Amino acid sequence: MKKIVIVYWSGSGNTETMAKSVAKGASEGGGEVVLKPVGEASADLVKGADALAFGCPAMGDEILEESEMEPFIVSLGSGDVGGKALGLFGSYDWGEGKWMQDWVERMKGLGAQVDGSGIITQLEPSEEALNACYELGKRLAG
Ligand SMILES: Cc1cc2nc3c(=O)[nH]c(=O)nc-3n(C[C@H](O)[C@H](O)[C@H](O)COP(=O)(O)O)c2cc1C
Repeated sequence: MKKIVIVYWSGSGNTETMAKSVAKGASEGGGEVVLKPVGEASADLVKGADALAFGCPAMGDEILEESEMEPFIVSLGSGDVGGKALGLFGSYDWGEGKWMQDWVERMKGLGAQVDGSGIITQLEPSEEALNACYELGKRLAG
């Protein structure tokens, strides 16, 4: 059974809803799921995973949330994520998704096998986005 570690930051719950859909898909796809707010996650947790999903909304000016998610990502090296399937997801509002494009490239730079171009949704997740999160979870577990 694959261990799927899902780590997210969410201020108003939109990205958390996405994380829960990824978790549902991964669990129903037969994976062992660990779902953690980023404040409870660590590089060691990531290192022990077979596949990963990270979620964070667009914050600041098209960047990751700075107090918890950015330091968490900085703490990861290629030994933690290299060669692993990684899904990225998050909610935004007024931008065009640049934070996600940058995040995808950044994680590819660490050697992660990033799934597609990340799942983004405006504010409260659309049904389409939640389905995409669910399918991501299933793929990660498969
Ligand atoms: C401090 C702050 C900065 C934000 N910066 C951006 C931004 O740069 N681009 C954007 O599209 N949305 C931005 N947003 C909107 C959030 O990404 C949006 O509200 C999102 O749904 C929040 O997700 P959450 O419910 O998971 O916290 C910002 C929101 C806040 C509170």
